[in-house]
Amino acid sequence: MASVENILEGNRICICAGSGGVGKTTTSAAIALGMAARGFKVCVLTIDPAKRLADSLGLEQLGNEATMVDPELISEHGVQEEGGELWAMMLDAKETFDALVSRHAEDEEARDRVLNNRIYQQISGALAGSQEYMAMEKLFELHSEGRFDLLVLDTPPSRNALDFLNAPQRLTQFIEGKSLQVFIRPTGFAARIAGRGAGVALSVLKRLVGFDLLADLSEFFTAFSGMIDGFQERGHRVSALLADDETTFIVVCGPQADQVEEAVFFHSKLVEQKMNFGGAVVNRVRYRLGTKAPKLKALTSKLDGEISNPELAETIARNLLEYDVLAQRDAKNIAVLRKTISGEPVIRIPYLDTDVHDIAGLSEINRYLFTNEKERVDLASNGN
Ligand SMILES: Nc1ncnc2c1ncn2[C@@H]1O[C@H](COP(=O)(O)OP(=O)(O)OP(=O)(O)O)[C@@H](O)[C@H]1O
Ligand SMILES: [Mg+2]
Repeated sequence: MASVENILEGNRICICAGSGGVGKTTTSAAIALGMAARGFKVCVLTIDPAKRLADSLGLEQLGNEATMVDPELISEHGVQEEGGELWAMMLDAKETFDALVSRHAEDEEARDRVLNNRIYQQISGALAGSQEYMAMEKLFELHSEGRFDLLVLDTPPSRNALDFLNAPQRLTQFIEGKSLQVFIRPTGFAARIAGRGAGVALSVLKRLVGFDLLADLSEFFTAFSGMIDGFQERGHRVSALLADDETTFIVVCGPQADQVEEAVFFHSKLVEQKMNFGGAVVNRVRYRLGTKAPKLKALTSKLDGEISNPELAETIARNLLEYDVLAQRDAKNIAVLRKTISGEPVIRIPYLDTDVHDIAGLSEINRYLFTNEKERVDLASNGN
């Protein structure tokens, strides 16, 4: 029976992936809360959570370090088993990159030369995939420390969920690639230019950009070149961690056809790359009113009986019927998902009336993530 607890049995890392806005941050936080309530020591690594959710987890003031969520806050919303702890952190790609530079730098001087370099300061925030890569880097660091039973990783709001899987390769390709090598070789472009002194072009450039761009470039790449082996080695280890037996992916999607299609595609990529697919979470599902579409006339007269206003009753009835059409569409798309990834768990979460921005909201989500299929159907038919 599909429940997150069963899916995660024997796993140390759970990665919630999916396309933009589908509910990755919400699902990650809910999974972490649910597992902590079941006695595990869990840390959720969130990325850019909505401010209210961050506030309610006590994350408003925090940087890049894990912080324990007040246990009383959690036990207010359900039974908490002995030993469970919920920790949370907000990932900051720039800070993680800085920490990585500090680790790989030969000495303090080399470190400061990179950190204070204006090119680095631009690149570390903007490098393609750096946010994805840094998320994994932090994951790797926490995993190596071994402080937690389970790490739940939220993934960045990328347009395409696959960006995340490819991030380590993209970073190593960038480092190994021609563009960077041109700068790094001692006889490279930057060295040649920098060696030439201030030509007319350079002084014009300097006036335009306001600082000595090429000198900064040259200095950055020279300082950075000493760290490349460290970065590459780390990139390979991070990739290996993604494919580890104790790592599992939960793919979050919405019930719309294109979102389901993307989840199916992501599933196939995981299989192809021999990574573990734990299951799919279909979020914001509209549930049907019953097993059959109701008739407008019957529904109107039933509603009229409740509110004694025939016009209003008909308007509400029409709306309900339209909603039922959307719900039927959702059900059809979910059936396609189930069939395509046959045998893999699919968990549905209904479209709730309000945003999920606190522990109570996460607990509500957990009524679906952590119950078995039969109970979930009952919840839905009870109108919950
Ligand atoms: N089942 C639900 N019912 C109602 N609202 C929901 C549900 N799930 C998530 N939300 C709300 O939808 C919004 C987006 O969710 P969330 O931030 O988790 O998405 P995301 O996939 O992390 O987005 P991004 O790709 O931008 O990081 C949030 O305001 C959240 O509270
Ligand atoms: Mg998010």
